[in-house]
Amino acid sequence: MKRRLVLSLISVFAFSGISIAAEGGDITLEHKKDNAAANAAEIIEMRSSLAKEFIKPDTEITEDTFKKVCGAVKKRVMEITEKENVKIRHATLKNRNAANAATPEEAELIKKFSADNNMTELRDTVRKDGKEFFRYTRPIYVEEACLACHGSKDARPKFIVEKYPEDKAYDYKAGDLRGIISVLVPLN
Ligand code: HEC
Repeated sequence: MKRRLVLSLISVFAFSGISIAAEGGDITLEHKKDNAAANAAEIIEMRSSLAKEFIKPDTEITEDTFKKVCGAVKKRVMEITEKENVKIRHATLKNRNAANAATPEEAELIKKFSADNNMTELRDTVRKDGKEFFRYTRPIYVEEACLACHGSKDARPKFIVEKYPEDKAYDYKAGDLRGIISVLVPLN
């Protein structure tokens, strides 16, 4: 009798163990997908609030101002990339940093967002370098405070003109689609 009880207890634990493990896998992936959405939101919100905080009508815009806005965002992107084992892509048709020039495939994605202002996010799966990724993408829009550095060509701060001779990230207006941010979660 005692032995039977022990055996059945063992089997109950064994089975529940299996089901927990199976669910655990799903929960982890779902959790990572939600996290990707949270990462994208954090980056967009961070850039927007830093620009509002540090760009005032009488601010002289220097490289130091950049370090507090898009520069700080770049740092945070690197931090998240390392901590969460994800890839984060900023992509745009008018890039300042060559690394952010949209690939033909990203350009298609940008077209979708520019054709539909109500499209707030996109979830899909992509293959890159033979690996599969879940991809979470959001559009980035230009705000008034961004124009200090992404406004008219001639009004760009000196350090930008000097540091980015191939710059295309100007002549935006508030409300324009600046580009996209994608968070890629490896699936295998
Ligand atoms: C103080 C100047 C400054 C302000 C203000 C600023 N940016 Fe930038 N931004 C830059 C610079 C410089 C880069 C290039 C960074 C690099 O070398 O990777 C950049 C890069 C970017 C990129 C990456 C794509 C690319 O072209 O390389 C995006 C997206 C972006 N900015 C959006 C914005 C948005 C949206 C705002 C307002 C909320 C904003 N920026 C405000 C200076 C600024």
